[in-house]
Amino acid sequence: MGKVIAITGASSGMGAATARYLAARGDQVVLGARGADRLAAVTERIVAAGGEAAQAVIDVTRRADLARLVALAGERFGRLDVLVSNAGAMPIGPIDDLAVDDWERMVDVNIKGVLYGIAAALPVFRAQGTGHFITIASTAARKTVPGQSVYSCTKAAVVALSDGLRQELAGAIRVTVILPGFTDTDFVAHVKDEALRAQLEQAGAKFAMSPEAIAQAIGYAIDQPAGVNVGEIVVRSTAQP
Ligand SMILES: NC(=O)c1ccc[n+]([C@@H]2O[C@H](COP(=O)([O-])OP(=O)(O)OC[C@H]3O[C@@H](n4cnc5c(N)ncnc54)[C@H](OP(=O)(O)O)[C@@H]3O)[C@@H](O)[C@H]2O)c1
Repeated sequence: MGKVIAITGASSGMGAATARYLAARGDQVVLGARGADRLAAVTERIVAAGGEAAQAVIDVTRRADLARLVALAGERFGRLDVLVSNAGAMPIGPIDDLAVDDWERMVDVNIKGVLYGIAAALPVFRAQGTGHFITIASTAARKTVPGQSVYSCTKAAVVALSDGLRQELAGAIRVTVILPGFTDTDFVAHVKDEALRAQLEQAGAKFAMSPEAIAQAIGYAIDQPAGVNVGEIVVRSTAQP
């Protein structure tokens, strides 16, 4: 509590839930996403509830935008304690569709977006002598199903990157990777393949959990004493196999 926390993909879903949860307990949050109106709505709700929030319209596929988000944390709140790399894209579909543009988008947002966040925040964390990277992967990193090969591959990359980062930064800087199971957010609505979207909607109705569960997992990782690093958290609804 009382930390300065930047969150990418904060305009909806887990990012917005995390921003609201952390601000409500007294953290200062710095929100980033592309959708200016949705982002402003999240920020306004936090401020109206008595929380402290700043926002920047950013696209995580642009390195300079992550630098801007990190700089905003310094300008508004004097430091950056935690970067939550949550923004993600899931335009899934069968490999046979050869939707190469969608593959590139998943690589650009889900992998390069996280790397650009590291590039922006690591010099700040090094200068402060403390910091915490939290990355949002997925249980899809562990269990690949047909239609999700490229998405799974990007999330497996986030797990590998986070573990490598944790080892390289051991000492003052913490690294946590969170692997959410099926979560009730806007994600499924963005899946273009109709058959896959219908499958996901059915699965979601059976076992999607609330995004607040991920917000609380993030809070748990942040709340550990300075010498303790929660490396990985896997969170699923009890109904998800
Ligand atoms: N929902 C699930 O079942 C599930 C399960 C496991 C993991 N995840 C992961 O959880 C994370 C959050 O997803 P969600 O479920 O909360 O879905 P969501 O509601 O669709 O949120 C995705 C967020 O990412 C932002 N975003 C997308 N592309 C971006 C870009 N290029 N630059 C900046 N922001 C961008 C979106 O905002 P704008 O469109 O405004 O930019 C939005 O705020 C993702 O990394 C996802 O892979 C989701």
